[in-house]
Amino acid sequence: MKSDMELIAINGSAGESNRCDAVEDLHLIRHYQQMSEKSSNRNKSVPMEEVECEDVQVKAGKLQSKVSCVVCGWLYINEKSSPRKQSKRNKFICNLTCAMAKRIVDGEYLKEIEKARRDLRALISNKNCAPLMLRLAWHDAGTYDAKTKTGGPNGSIRNRHELNHAANKGLETALVFCGEVKAKHPKISYADLYQLAGVVAVEVTGGPTIDFVPGRKDSLESPEEGRLPDAKQGAAHLREIFYRMGLGDKDIVALSGGHTLGKAHRDRSDFEGQWTKEPLKFDNSYFVELLKGESRDLLKLPTDKALVEDPKFRKYVELYAKDEDAFFADYAISHKKLSELGFIIKNRSILVKGVIGIATVLTAVILGYLRQLDKKLN
Ligand code: HEM
Repeated sequence: MKSDMELIAINGSAGESNRCDAVEDLHLIRHYQQMSEKSSNRNKSVPMEEVECEDVQVKAGKLQSKVSCVVCGWLYINEKSSPRKQSKRNKFICNLTCAMAKRIVDGEYLKEIEKARRDLRALISNKNCAPLMLRLAWHDAGTYDAKTKTGGPNGSIRNRHELNHAANKGLETALVFCGEVKAKHPKISYADLYQLAGVVAVEVTGGPTIDFVPGRKDSLESPEEGRLPDAKQGAAHLREIFYRMGLGDKDIVALSGGHTLGKAHRDRSDFEGQWTKEPLKFDNSYFVELLKGESRDLLKLPTDKALVEDPKFRKYVELYAKDEDAFFADYAISHKKLSELGFIIKNRSILVKGVIGIATVLTAVILGYLRQLDKKLN
């Protein structure tokens, strides 16, 4: 773990580091090394910024200090021999993830996104893993808390600590599959990659086209466990979870339609079975089956049943069961919202259009003025 040691040196702290284990460590380290090769003096190549260094409680008899990178939130826990004064500030910005955070979505990046999209299509078809990829995208995004602006589609699910949350059982395979694409397109952030995988999973199984805007930043700071919904609960719980993300009733029902794909596995969730007869086809059959009531062959989670029991949810279930186009249109909107929670898109095209507009008006004014001047002189 040479690069870990180097990062500690940047931080200027002595002692051991317990960086959260990331599944894709190898890719991150490779990326870091690529950066190191590009810059002979990388410590100077990235500006240092000031960040509060927070002392945390004594753990296993040892005092620790917690430092997180100001730009990307990369978290370091350093063991220390003596307490640090709260007022003391520590300069820390991590070269590795910040380079990714500072990345601009330029033409090259967009080209990589399109190549990754093609690779994801092939991979998902070959491995028949659309349901798992959709679940990965949803579980990375679904931790968002609109009040604290934490969690969300930021790639933090690759952090071993978050991956080990009970709700994420079985998703390691999806991370490994995405790792294959990441190795070919290292420029792309994990956050973008996971969301792109979700969008492609819906598309290749016959679902609606979902608008995908790249530029998500990666973070390894994981939210506390318990932000994803508990399948054993009902409507009130669903609202609590989805409202926290800033989503509404229509989003809850439309997104639950994701269960048109895949199945539950006893060893992952305590539930077993598929929701629809064709679990690799994205259609409105989840809602059709839901309205038919209990079935011996098909699964209905308590949270699925809540959608027909709650009158406000039910009106959408009925609509989507009879009108697949309405479901596809609403699903595409809700999925885009989910995939962009907490993601501020700086719309450069609006800026560019504005500048072009102003330049055109100015040119017209100047030309008019010159013409009048010309007339006066002649
Ligand atoms: C509404 C709250 C939700 C609950 C309580 C819930 C719960 C579950 C559970 C318990 C499983 C089974 C996992 C397993 O055993 O492998 C599952 C699977 C799945 N979920 Fe959800 N889910 C919810 C929302 C969503 C959303 C919003 C999406 C996507 C838009 C989604 C997509 C999927 C997919 C595709 C699978 C199948 C995965 C596979 O076949 O491996 N779920 N969900």
